Amino acid sequence: MSADNFDVVVIGSGPGGYVAAIRASQLGLKTALIEKGNLGGTCLNVGCIPSKALLHSTEMLHFTKDKAANHGIQVDGVSVDLSQLMKRKDTVVNTLKGGVEMLVTKKGGKIFKGLGVIQSPGTVLVKQEDGEITLQTKHIIIATGSTPIELPFLPYDSETIVSSDQAIAFDSIPEKLAVIGASAIGLELGSVWARLGSEVTIVEYLPKIAPGFDDDICKISERVFKRQGLKFLTATEVTSADSSENKVVLKAQRKGKEVSIEADKVLVAVGRKPNTLNAGIEEAGVKVDEKGRIEIDHHFQSNIPGIYAIGDVVAGPMLAHKAEEEGVAVAEIIAGKAGHVNYDVIPGVIYTDPEIASVGLSEQQAQESGIEVNTGKFNLSANGRAISSDVTEGMVKVIADAKSDKLLGVQILAHNASELIAAAVTHMEYGGSAEDLARTIHAHPTLSESLKEAALAVDGRGLHSI
Ligand code: NAI
Repeated sequence: MSADNFDVVVIGSGPGGYVAAIRASQLGLKTALIEKGNLGGTCLNVGCIPSKALLHSTEMLHFTKDKAANHGIQVDGVSVDLSQLMKRKDTVVNTLKGGVEMLVTKKGGKIFKGLGVIQSPGTVLVKQEDGEITLQTKHIIIATGSTPIELPFLPYDSETIVSSDQAIAFDSIPEKLAVIGASAIGLELGSVWARLGSEVTIVEYLPKIAPGFDDDICKISERVFKRQGLKFLTATEVTSADSSENKVVLKAQRKGKEVSIEADKVLVAVGRKPNTLNAGIEEAGVKVDEKGRIEIDHHFQSNIPGIYAIGDVVAGPMLAHKAEEEGVAVAEIIAGKAGHVNYDVIPGVIYTDPEIASVGLSEQQAQESGIEVNTGKFNLSANGRAISSDVTEGMVKVIADAKSDKLLGVQILAHNASELIAAAVTHMEYGGSAEDLARTIHAHPTLSESLKEAALAVDGRGLHSI
């Protein structure tokens, strides 16, 4: 096999692509990974990781300014050095970027920096800075990710009308920030800038914030985030915008009336669309659906034999961990093993404070599917560790099948909900029941006891709730 002959060529090095390359190499397949931008894709460079760095720093600020005194910690003259805050975020990103390169190459994968363009099912051209190279391969995995959706009447200009790509890197704190969309990106970055002092208004088309989650969780989180200073306009559709120099006035429809929102920056966070441009995907005859997502079968294979696709460019939640699992599964399938992803137990998290996390169905989703359920709830305000740690806002809700008691979903609003949800995911992965969760011993005092209590409450046996 020549140096440019591979078993697998992966296009795109986000969490889907680089993990597929690692797993394929582990399985003894000669693997190339092509990246036109920075290693790590959206998640590492402009998504999950930088936003978490900003969320952590600003959570510390919020504690120092608003909570420390109550803990007997006097801190005077607190101020923000925005450029240092951004510098730390960049250091975090760069550290992890180095990690991706090291991991892929140590496992035996070869990285090509340039634009990967499919020429035919077995051939990929890499347009590098210093020329082109053609790779021959048995299998191609498309992992080209997604890009922010643009509103037709509000085109991005990178300065005033921005996507999350820019909202993680403003060089000054906007006085007034309008956010369109109250889902993961809107709530996370809205929280960051509100903590830094911006007046943040979040406009949401649907009647509730964090629309994918259980109604109970949405109601409480809206109350909690309002107390933190975020303003919400739900059931409101932004329909047009007037821009003058450095100012935008958004016009929106709310209950039949027009409302205006003035802002010096607008973050549009209305979803992302699959990235199928410039990689020779359509030219190769790869079929996409009406939403532009590559159509795949149960083996992640497109309509063209030998061309596979994973992550944001195919159907399903646009989440890094979903893409990673698909990356592992497709590499295993190509290697002749039984790769598989359990789509029923993919956790979803919004990293606000408290965080919102869920797995499986909400009570409303279960009802819509005609499933009779029992639910159990537990408020964090009755949890000893939450009280000790000053994190009493939130609740855990367990949704179980009324007939079999099988866990159908767990919804959490709590400090560190992103970590707490893992136990629920594990129970559900193994087909556990509410009874199983209720009988599992949890260390005391921990926030995780709230899960056990909510599971006990499914049949009215809560020990620490009234
Ligand atoms: P999203 O698709 O999750 O939510 C967009 C929201 O915008 C919806 O609630 C929708 O009703 C609203 N909307 C749409 N048009 C509107 C209009 N004209 N006026 C008012 N509201 C409008 O999109 P988001 O938050 O941009 O995230 C994009 C993707 O990235 C999602 O798939 C998300 O799961 C993923 N992501 C995940 C994160 C996480 O796991 N923590 C963090 C950030 C993004």
